[in-house]
Amino acid sequence: MKIAIVGAGFAGLSSAKVLTALGHDVTVYDSTPDVGGVWSRTRRYPGLKTQNNKGTYHLSDHPMPRSYPQWLRGEQVAEYLKSYVDRFRLEPVLRLGTRVTTASPTAAEDGWTLTTDDGGSETYDHLVVANGIFSEPVIPTFDGREDFERAGGRVIDTGSLRSLSEVEGKNVLMVGYGKSSCDVAVEVATVAESTTVAARGLLWKVPRYVGGFVNYKYLLMSRFGEALFRYQTLRGLERLLHAKDSLVADGIIGTLQKVITRQLRLKELGLLPNKPLKTIAKTSISLATEGFYDAVGEGRIDVRRETEVVRLYEKDGRPWAELSDGTRQRADLVICGCGFTQRVPFLPDEVQGRITDENGNFQLYRQIKPVDVPNLTFAGYNSSFFSPLSAEMSAVWIGSYLAGHHTLPPAERMRQTVRERVNWMEERTDGAVPVARSWSRSRCTTSMRCSTTSGSTCRPSPRCCSGCCRCVRAPTRRSPRNW
Ligand SMILES: Cc1cc2nc3c(=O)[nH]c(=O)nc-3n(C[C@H](O)[C@H](O)[C@H](O)COP(=O)(O)OP(=O)(O)OC[C@H]3O[C@@H](n4cnc5c(N)ncnc54)[C@H](O)[C@@H]3O)c2cc1C
Ligand SMILES: NC(=O)c1ccc[n+]([C@@H]2O[C@H](COP(=O)([O-])OP(=O)(O)OC[C@H]3O[C@@H](n4cnc5c(N)ncnc54)[C@H](OP(=O)(O)O)[C@@H]3O)[C@@H](O)[C@H]2O)c1
Repeated sequence: MKIAIVGAGFAGLSSAKVLTALGHDVTVYDSTPDVGGVWSRTRRYPGLKTQNNKGTYHLSDHPMPRSYPQWLRGEQVAEYLKSYVDRFRLEPVLRLGTRVTTASPTAAEDGWTLTTDDGGSETYDHLVVANGIFSEPVIPTFDGREDFERAGGRVIDTGSLRSLSEVEGKNVLMVGYGKSSCDVAVEVATVAESTTVAARGLLWKVPRYVGGFVNYKYLLMSRFGEALFRYQTLRGLERLLHAKDSLVADGIIGTLQKVITRQLRLKELGLLPNKPLKTIAKTSISLATEGFYDAVGEGRIDVRRETEVVRLYEKDGRPWAELSDGTRQRADLVICGCGFTQRVPFLPDEVQGRITDENGNFQLYRQIKPVDVPNLTFAGYNSSFFSPLSAEMSAVWIGSYLAGHHTLPPAERMRQTVRERVNWMEERTDGAVPVARSWSRSRCTTSMRCSTTSGSTCRPSPRCCSGCCRCVRAPTRRSPRNW
C-alpha cells in the first residue's frame, strides 16, 4: 500500500518504521528541515528539557543512550530521533522541509491526493496524520499590538525563542503559567532586565523529587498514580480508592498537596493555586521548572497571579503593556506560553466536519480511526505521560488494522464508544475547549495521558495504551527494566 505520513516527530517516525517493516511504500512529510517534531532545532527554546525521565521517553526498540542524563536536553531527544532514523534506515522515505498544504480524498474515495508547498502533488492509498497535538502555538489577540510593534516591541510564542541574546537587557513579559512559560521565564531571568509572568490562573506543579527524595515517576507515572484519578470505569483497587466520593484517593492526593506546598514554599511566595491538587487532572499536570520558585523568591521573576494582558501600547516611542491588575510596565518582548491548538488545517472542511463534533472534539475510535472517513488514521493523538509509547502503539495498531489482523467493532458501536469517551472528557475537564493541554486536560488514547479529542489528556494513564494493546493482542504490561 502507498502511504503518506504527515509529521516526523515520535508519532510519524514510529509509524514510518512500523509500516515500512510491514512492506508498505511510505513517504513522510515534515515542514521542518530536521526530524524531531517538538524537539526540532526550529522549535526548541533555550534550556528545554524533557519532563519524563529517559526510561519513560523512548521508543520500545531503541533505548536512550546510557550516557544520557535522567532528564534529557532537547537536543539529545532530537539526536535520539535522528539515530532512530539511521538505525531503521528511514532517511530515504523522508521529505523534510516540505509542508503538506492540502490532503483531499480522491474522487472514488479510495485514497488521498496531497499537495505540498514545493508545488508537488501525489496520490496515496492511505493517509496517516501525525502532525502533533502541540504543533500550532496559541498567540492571543492583544489590543494595540500594531502600535506596540511599531515602537519596537515583539510578540512571539515560547517555541520561537532561539537564543537568550534576544532578551538580554530587555523587559520581558511572559504570558501563561504552563510548563513552557515557566521554563522560558527561568532562562530569560538570567539575562533580562526584568521578567514578569502574567498568570491568568495558577496551576499545580510537581517537583522532580517529591519531598526532596521520591522521584515523581513512582507517584504519577505508575499504575498506582493512574488509579488515583477517577477513570471512566472503576476496576479492582480503584473501587476502594474511589469509594465514598474518592475518600481514600483524595486523602492520598491531599497529603501530596501538603508536601508540594511546603517543598515549593507556595504559601510564602503567594503562589498557592485556588483549586486543590486533585483537580490537576482537569487542567494540566506539569513538573515544576528547576529554579523557578527560587527565582520568584529572589525577586528575579515577578509572577502576577490571576492577571491578564489588557492591552499593548506605545508610550514615548517605547513598547508598554497594561495588565488587568492595574499596573503598566515596559515590555520589549511579550512571550506567549499559551498552549496549542489541535487542528488538521490541510484537510478539507467537509472532512474536518466528519472527524470533529460541534465543539471541535476529535471523533476518533481509539484516538486513531475516524469512524466515517475511509483510508485515514491518526498517530500520536493518543498522547500521554508516555508519549513515545502511545505514539508507537498507534503505529502498531494502524499497521495491524491495515493488514486486517484485527477487526473493528460495528460502526455504531465505535461511534458510541467515542461518544461516551468524549462525554466523559467534557465532564472531566469541565468542557475544556479544543486546545491541546498539558499532561492532563487533553483527551487522549493511550498511556499515561490519553487524548481522544483535541489533545487534552484524560488522565495520567497507561490504561488507554492497554486498550490498543488488547486490540492487537500485545502484552499490556511493560517490562520495568530501565524505567
Ligand atoms: C516544548 C514541549 C515539551 C514537551 N515535553 C514532553 C515531555 O517531556 N514528555 C512528554 O511525554 N511529552 C512532552 N511533550 C509533548 C510532545 O508533544 C510529545 O511528547 C511528542 O514529542 C509528540 O510527538 P508527535 O510526533 O505526536 O508530534 P510532534 O512532535 O509535534 O510532530 C509533529 C510534526 O508534524 C509536522 N507537521 C505539522 N503539520 C504539518 C504539515 N502540514 N506538513 C508537514 N509537516 C507538518 C510538524 O512540523 C512536526 O514536526 C512536549 C511538548 C512540547 C511542546
Ligand atoms: N518537557 C518539558 O519540559 C515541557 C516544556 C513545555 C511544555 N511541555 C508540555 O507541552 C504541553 C503544553 O504546555 P504549555 O506550557 O506550552 O501549555 P499549557 O500547559 O497549555 O499552558 C498554557 C498556559 O497559558 C495560559 N493561557 C492560555 N491562553 C491564554 C490567554 N489567551 N491569555 C492568557 N493566558 C493564556 C493558560 O492559562 P489557563 O490555565 O488559565 O488556561 C496556561 O497557564 C504540555 O503537555 C506540557 O507538559 C513540556
